[in-house]
Amino acid sequence: MEFPLDYVRGCFPTVASSDFVFFDNAAGAQVPQTVVDAVAGHLTSHNVQRGGRYRLSEEVDEGVWQARKSVAAFLNAYETEEVVFGLNATGFVRLVSLALGKLLKPGDEVVVTELDHEANIAPWLALQEACGIEVKYWPVEADARLDIEKLEAILTDRTRVVAVTKASNATGSIVELIPIAERIHALKGYLFVDSVHFAPHGPIDVRFFGCDFLVCSGYKIFGPHMGFLWGRRELLDSLPTFREYFVADKAPDKFEVGTFSYEAVAGMNAAISYVEELGRRSKDMPLAPADAVGRRGDLRRGMQAIRHYERTLTAHLLTKAAKVPGLTVHGIEGPNYDALRTPTLCFSLHGVAPADVSRQLAQRGISVRDGHQYCPRLMRALGLSEEEGAVRASLVHYNTVEEVNAFTEALEKIATTAKVSK
Ligand SMILES: Cc1ncc(COP(=O)(O)O)c(C=O)c1O
Repeated sequence: MEFPLDYVRGCFPTVASSDFVFFDNAAGAQVPQTVVDAVAGHLTSHNVQRGGRYRLSEEVDEGVWQARKSVAAFLNAYETEEVVFGLNATGFVRLVSLALGKLLKPGDEVVVTELDHEANIAPWLALQEACGIEVKYWPVEADARLDIEKLEAILTDRTRVVAVTKASNATGSIVELIPIAERIHALKGYLFVDSVHFAPHGPIDVRFFGCDFLVCSGYKIFGPHMGFLWGRRELLDSLPTFREYFVADKAPDKFEVGTFSYEAVAGMNAAISYVEELGRRSKDMPLAPADAVGRRGDLRRGMQAIRHYERTLTAHLLTKAAKVPGLTVHGIEGPNYDALRTPTLCFSLHGVAPADVSRQLAQRGISVRDGHQYCPRLMRALGLSEEEGAVRASLVHYNTVEEVNAFTEALEKIATTAKVSK
């Protein structure tokens, strides 16, 4: 399958115009021009509050509804009202955990993982203090995978929630959700999924995942800085939330108290349209007949095309990285590596501190990130220092094989210089 890389790169003004290699996408991706236009268009022609009885206000209401429909299609939600807009993913973990906390009883258990971003750990820990529940850790393996047998060992009939990421923002490991859903649902508990890192790399399908809640950030999937929550409608409607007394006790309104960024929502809608267009341009991407229908079909095809291209990129990245002297990959390296991970490479270079690797790559025009990547517990579990962490190169579908070559050549020079100067 031919991936329309030139078309893709041409859509992103910063990618098309700059000569720097941007490998810091897991901290926030670039946006297509259509997203810029949608945000600017909202601010220049529709910058009014919702709920008014005049045309512009009605059009903002309609725009938010259309964006909700787009995100619902992107997630394969059952109903449009299951999509809730807000500031970011972390805020939604907090909001749902606080609501669930009102339903949990002292002694009930919540499972979090050592693989997760702290955003999907800290709010559950706060609940432990607030309402006497117990938080249990699902330990991570040495290659940054989660082993389902270890989960089985910690589940009990008091387990009410498993909070887990679909993919690690630090190591790129992808987590198989269906076996987790089966186990927690057998205990009549809930599966809470953080899809922030996975979202730009492959199709999200909340029905297929079997989850009950899912959070995501728009700015990782080529949209503006905003976040959204998905939850099964009856669950969202039944959760006790804070709201003004006259706000309906129904999703999405009960979770959207106050004003959120309508310009960001307009941009998010355009980001989804970008994926849809990519799907239309990837007609030879094979899909199961049930997945290939209508708008959802185009979105799925777009994300599937991204996944397909990124697997090739990941394989190339890992092959080249393995040849850099003194480079240790923290994460999955096995024969099926590209199927089990995103193109997010967590690594250390022998004898060079992670911050120095980042600095020296920056001097060569290559942007990466060093540190604990908001996963200090994972760093410790992998035998790394929490303070220094590791280096992370995170790629998306507008990155290229040539950029990977430039990156690994630069690393080879850094490794050689370090050896000479020792
Ligand atoms: C896996 C993962 N979860 C959660 C978050 C937090 O997202 P937000 O900034 O939208 O709160 C991030 C941010 O980098 C992330 O990578």
